[in-house]
Amino acid sequence: MEIIRAADMGFCFGVRRAVETMEQAAARLGRMTSLGSVVHNQQVVERLARLGVEVIGAPAEADSRPIAITSHGVAPQVLEEIRRLGVQVVDTTCPIVARSQQWAKRLSRDGFTVLIFGDPDHREVRAVAGWAGGKGMALPNTEALDAVIERLPARVAVLSQTTETKERFASFVGHLMSNRLSHIRELRVINTLCHATTNQQAAARELARRVDLMIVVGGRESANTRHLADVSREEGVETHHIEWASEVDPRWLAGKRSVGITAGASTPDETVDAVEARLRELADERNDSRKA
Ligand code: F3S
Repeated sequence: MEIIRAADMGFCFGVRRAVETMEQAAARLGRMTSLGSVVHNQQVVERLARLGVEVIGAPAEADSRPIAITSHGVAPQVLEEIRRLGVQVVDTTCPIVARSQQWAKRLSRDGFTVLIFGDPDHREVRAVAGWAGGKGMALPNTEALDAVIERLPARVAVLSQTTETKERFASFVGHLMSNRLSHIRELRVINTLCHATTNQQAAARELARRVDLMIVVGGRESANTRHLADVSREEGVETHHIEWASEVDPRWLAGKRSVGITAGASTPDETVDAVEARLRELADERNDSRKA
């Protein structure tokens, strides 16, 4: 059985940068906190916890310890709250997310209502909506757009959660144009998709077309890992999203000649290595039983 890794997968530069910055800050500052977990990955969170980084849910829980802002960024209101507490800030906001925040701020200041295509409960989207002031609206799909479309003003801007797929973003914008263009005087679409994600999705799609089974590795909460699984399923190949190597079910391999592996932007290399090792072990067992 052939086991093939996607040409592009795993930790993106934004997550790698955030994790390394936190590790260095913990070594320098001692006990500190992280506002939310740095990535949707338990192993990484546990490793940072051993270095003294405690995940907190709100700035007030910091108890005068430094606060790290994760790669997802935070709304300006949260930054203000941290400033009022007077604690040190370690900002690891991904530069691509920061660009999205700046667009939200600029567009709302210029009088646009800013639609953010993405999961309204995702931290990045909540933060970007915050930067749009009262003019931001987070919408996860075209149904949510339909629910507000009649109320949209004449000047509308659209951004996307960085980890969305370009197909879904294009379809969202297309839906807006087909159903509201006659009422819109000015429409601005800013491409805030992250190349790290789109490249990984393209690599996952390419691999999904030539294997019999796809294993997508990453946290269940990780939006970009889930999107990789969606992309793979769209190609019609059997796809399983797992978090740990121990979740690989030997029955998935029955009759398969090739298995592809891809991993989300928050999945550490060690986890992917463990999954590959498990697949090789099962493939060897299968070969041995055939020979016997
Ligand atoms: Fe940044 Fe893209 Fe990663 S937005 S955190 S480089 S997925």
